[in-house]
Amino acid sequence: MSPALFNGSTNNHSNGINVFAKQTPDGFGTRAIHVGSEADPQTGAVIPSISLSTTYKQDGVGHHKGFEYSRSGNPNRNALETTLASLESGGAHALAFSSGSATTATILQSLGPNAHVVSVNDVYGGTFRYMARVASENQGLETTFVDLENADDETILATFRPNTKLVWIESPTNPTLRLIDIPRIVSLARSVPSSPLVLVDNTFLSPYYSSPLLQGADVVLHSLTKYVNGHSDVVMGALILPAHHAALTEKLRFLQNAIGAVPSAYDCWLAQRGAKTLHLRMKAHGTNALAVARALQRSPLVEEVIYPGLASHPRHELAYRSLSPHARKFVDAYVVQEGDGAGGFPYGGMISFRIRGGAEEADRFLRTTRLFTLAESLGGVESLAELPAQMTHGSIPPAERALLGIGDNLIRLSVGVEEAEDLVADIEQALQAAATSQVA
Ligand SMILES: Cc1ncc(COP(=O)(O)O)c(C=O)c1O
Repeated sequence: MSPALFNGSTNNHSNGINVFAKQTPDGFGTRAIHVGSEADPQTGAVIPSISLSTTYKQDGVGHHKGFEYSRSGNPNRNALETTLASLESGGAHALAFSSGSATTATILQSLGPNAHVVSVNDVYGGTFRYMARVASENQGLETTFVDLENADDETILATFRPNTKLVWIESPTNPTLRLIDIPRIVSLARSVPSSPLVLVDNTFLSPYYSSPLLQGADVVLHSLTKYVNGHSDVVMGALILPAHHAALTEKLRFLQNAIGAVPSAYDCWLAQRGAKTLHLRMKAHGTNALAVARALQRSPLVEEVIYPGLASHPRHELAYRSLSPHARKFVDAYVVQEGDGAGGFPYGGMISFRIRGGAEEADRFLRTTRLFTLAESLGGVESLAELPAQMTHGSIPPAERALLGIGDNLIRLSVGVEEAEDLVADIEQALQAAATSQVA
């Protein structure tokens, strides 16, 4: 590591003491590029090699260079974990898994038998499925799903039990982009005798826009498949914990190895490469999404636009208040330089909107976009569009979907990093085509 660099993490894999170390942390983008990515001491290679070996030579029994068998640890996974621990502000320890879902499974298994979890009600469908259909059957887990955005303190407190071990937050929620006030939920969790851990699934905002650990959360989860890798070519997940959770980290590291849902060295290398441009991509996702959200808002062919960066979003003020320190700097500068007085700011790349009409108009819109590809997932450089009612959220019973506001005319966009004017033009022509039945 260059003497000027500051890791900002105490991940087990960090490089030890550097007497020249900078006293203040380097900025987000500097850490993304340098932390966990030091030049190879033997060859000088600036980019880490991909280490495919599954086993490692020992000089004597138990005397090795930190690696024994690559399920327990390998250079590329260690490097990625070091990067992630540094990028998630307030983080010190990181553990990578073979998918976001394997990450969910591992943290829920760590709770042991017959535990209780309080979860936000419109949690990611796969998380709901694991809680309600896998952990419930296999470890007696009980989950209470609550509207953590709108429920009052008393209602939330009433859901806690003596065996409540975890509170599960996702913010913004998917696909209706409701925002949860993380410090409020943390203080409620701290006030009950079981003092459950608070986990935040930070996939939608990425470590760039939101720092839940700085807001008091105990654990952050990411599906790295989305923004952190950012190129739609890796499936992976991670947990990041603050320094004071060293014992919990050890327990999770034991499970990471024992369960074995670990990522390949190649995927770790790709995700680390992706993470190096996270700050650049997230700024572009945010400014593009704001431009697209404003175009949708201007259109008479749209009933409602949901984007927390728009002043019209009911939790717009919370969105601003909960920005990470680095995103706050970017947003403030953006508003001064580019603001149009309408009060909006970039806040990630996800938008949902209700097209005027119903399923037919939505279908015509989705078949007419040129740049927005009709596909599930999110967070890649390319723009995607989907219909939650029939795609990502199709397994939710219609009555529950209606309660959550997931109607047949709700379209979700993952706005990519193409040129903003091309994306806006694409949306405008597809809205026009949807309204005038131009699709064959
Ligand atoms: C918010 C969120 N969390 C977790 C996951 C699960 O991640 P993975 O698909 O990497 O298993 C997803 C996947 O879409 C997600 O959107």
